[in-house]
Amino acid sequence: IRLGILGSGSGSNMQAIVDAIDSGELNAEIALVLSDNPDGFILERAQKAGIPNAVIDCHGFKTKFPDAAQAAIGQQLKDAGVELVCLAGFMRLVKAPLLEAFPNRIINIHPSLLPNFPGLEAWVQAVEAGARESGCTVHYVDAGMDTGPIIMQAMVPVMGDDTASSLHQRIQVEEHRLYPAAINHISEQLR
Ligand code: GRF
Repeated sequence: IRLGILGSGSGSNMQAIVDAIDSGELNAEIALVLSDNPDGFILERAQKAGIPNAVIDCHGFKTKFPDAAQAAIGQQLKDAGVELVCLAGFMRLVKAPLLEAFPNRIINIHPSLLPNFPGLEAWVQAVEAGARESGCTVHYVDAGMDTGPIIMQAMVPVMGDDTASSLHQRIQVEEHRLYPAAINHISEQLR
């Protein structure tokens, strides 16, 4: 399966996908990595792995993802032969122009057991709520925020002495296992 990956930050989930492909665990190919953040480490990781990559032009908007930009990305991903779009720490909300270019073919990884703690910094939310467990979720993307159908989840315990950052680290270990597994699962269903 040919993947397109969209991210804004460190790209550790993208790296986990690259590593799973290299080790033969995941039968996929990353066709294109796109970042709305020109300084995102995800772009450096893509360069290092020899994967085509580019910056998304959001027309100067800090958080908004203009329709024209979404349509342009849709076209760029199509041109690259992308079959499944994976959001990996992508901080803008995907809407109609991109959703319609890839119906049921956009997935996201979120650092909580959805529907609990959607939105930003879910690991902070979990610690502040005194949750006893949290985890991560891979789900299809719809027009809501972290609301689409769930594909796979992994649970992690929240310890009494956890800080937001220690919990996030524990969740990320599971994310890096879960995301490649979920992509494998989808690609087998599509075959
Ligand atoms: C992950 O925790 C992911 O669940 C969330 O943003 C973070 C991205 O991390 N959506 P990275 O850029 O993959 O390292």
